[in-house]
Amino acid sequence: MKQLEVIYHSGYGHTAVLAEAVHRGASQVSGVEVNLQSIEKIDWDRLDNADAIILGSPTYMGSVSAPFKAFMDETSSRWYERAWRNKLAAGFTNSASWSGDKLNTLIQMSIFAAQHGMVWIGLDQLPGYNSTHGSPEDLNRIGSYLGAMAQSDADRPPEEVPPKADQETASLLGNESPMQR
Ligand SMILES: Cc1cc2nc3c(=O)[nH]c(=O)nc-3n(C[C@H](O)[C@H](O)[C@H](O)COP(=O)(O)O)c2cc1C
Repeated sequence: MKQLEVIYHSGYGHTAVLAEAVHRGASQVSGVEVNLQSIEKIDWDRLDNADAIILGSPTYMGSVSAPFKAFMDETSSRWYERAWRNKLAAGFTNSASWSGDKLNTLIQMSIFAAQHGMVWIGLDQLPGYNSTHGSPEDLNRIGSYLGAMAQSDADRPPEEVPPKADQETASLLGNESPMQR
């Protein structure tokens, strides 16, 4: 049985919806035990034993949120020991704007993974909603490759956004991307 950890921060609940979607998608893969954890209560043993770790953070001020960065910094002793080397890694993020500089958040996560010697896995979905045949209901409607992106209107609660298309896209990150290789 392989072990996949999904670890995320969510200040106001929107990124948590995505984390649950990633967890849901990954749970459909047979032979994989999936665990969801918020950075507010980190289970380091589970992270150390995982075969793959999927990272999730809202985009705040164009990068990962401060609490998520604190988590990243807390891993530095593991970096020194090369403890997470060869684990698979992937990431997802959510922000209010269509762009909102979300790409920077995923780049930051992928650099974090590279520093640990982890193997970064992208979303592996063609972009939707980029032609006259597209619609906002398309999977990967934001057109990201490095990881899963979601957009949540700033004045709407997590019961309403991120929309279904983004949740489904996040679910694919867990389902198709990391663990089936
Ligand atoms: C401190 C802060 C900084 C933010 N910075 C950005 C940003 O750079 N780009 C953006 O599009 N949205 C930004 N937002 C909006 C959030 O990304 C958006 O509301 C998101 O859904 C919050 O996710 P959460 O509910 O999981 O915390 C920011 C929100 C906060 C609170």
